[in-house]
Amino acid sequence: MHRTSSLQAPHTVRTITQVLLDWYAHKARQLPWRALPRTLQDPYIVWISESMLQQTTVSKVIPYFTRFFIVFPTLSQLAEASLDEVLTLWQGLGYYARARHLHHTARLIQEEHKGCFPRTAQSLQKLPGIGPYTAAAIASMAFGEPVVALDANVSRVVARLFALSDQAFLLSHAQSLLSIEYPGDFNQALMDIGAQYCQMRQVACVCCPLQAFCQARQSNAPLSYPSHRKGTERRMRYAIFFCILGKDTLLLERRPEKGLLGGLYGLPTTPWTQTPQDSAPTIGPLGITQWQFSHIVTHTFTHFRLQARVLYTYVSEQNPYAGFSWIPHTHLEKYALPTVFKKALRCG
Ligand code: ADE
Repeated sequence: MHRTSSLQAPHTVRTITQVLLDWYAHKARQLPWRALPRTLQDPYIVWISESMLQQTTVSKVIPYFTRFFIVFPTLSQLAEASLDEVLTLWQGLGYYARARHLHHTARLIQEEHKGCFPRTAQSLQKLPGIGPYTAAAIASMAFGEPVVALDANVSRVVARLFALSDQAFLLSHAQSLLSIEYPGDFNQALMDIGAQYCQMRQVACVCCPLQAFCQARQSNAPLSYPSHRKGTERRMRYAIFFCILGKDTLLLERRPEKGLLGGLYGLPTTPWTQTPQDSAPTIGPLGITQWQFSHIVTHTFTHFRLQARVLYTYVSEQNPYAGFSWIPHTHLEKYALPTVFKKALRCG
């Protein structure tokens, strides 16, 4: 049975919001992309950091953000860069579509918006790669628009604060608390509480500034909110990767622009199928028929887990083939090789 609770009484609402903002003013995490409390941030900085932070942890993002910002400190410098330069800096962060969108959208803002970001969540969402969450984050942190940026941490904290079992009414409850004056601080305070004290499987209520207001804490079972979704088993995909070795070179294939890891270099591969491909193909890429088995590699993507059998062979002729490049081993680092292929090459 779904349980919802009524919104807080107005005097309590003001207090929660105030407590949250005061706490953020003194205890906000210092992160390289953050403005000081009660000030606005440059939209470019919010956009880059929020794009990196999707699907990735804060500690992993910090060095990537710092490097990226040193190389591309402004929107126009990002717009002028080549896609390969951007992908190289993104290497290892995963979900490369985000980097491609950043590059494409930087050019679009430069050309069609005179280099200025749209200033509302609604208009930001029209840009490629900017969804409701990122739009709300930019609008609130850079332009002070009172909108809730509902990410996983914020959702969990709000669900517990109001003892909500599911997603229904989550946004309206969050909006009932939103600070009109400092919406960016409000959103980031909830993010910090969710990341530090109100984690999915562990809570530190005694450290939380909202403990006195929290209905899940009062229930003595804070972890039971929001109720856990039924475990969705990750789907499997199967493939065969081909390592074709020349004289101190390796054959890489540029993947099609559209689709997973689009436009990146990778090992030649069979299509990724839902059933195992357990017999070596009689004919691999370039018509090669002789293969040695090397090892099996597994990698987890957002929606599935891939298990690939890695086969290898040596060739004496390094003929050019359309769509393929012979890469000297010493140059491999320059290519934005996705982690799954690095794992296959045992260099990741
Ligand atoms: N996670 C996503 N956005 C964040 C931010 N601005 N600060 C901290 N953690 C985040």
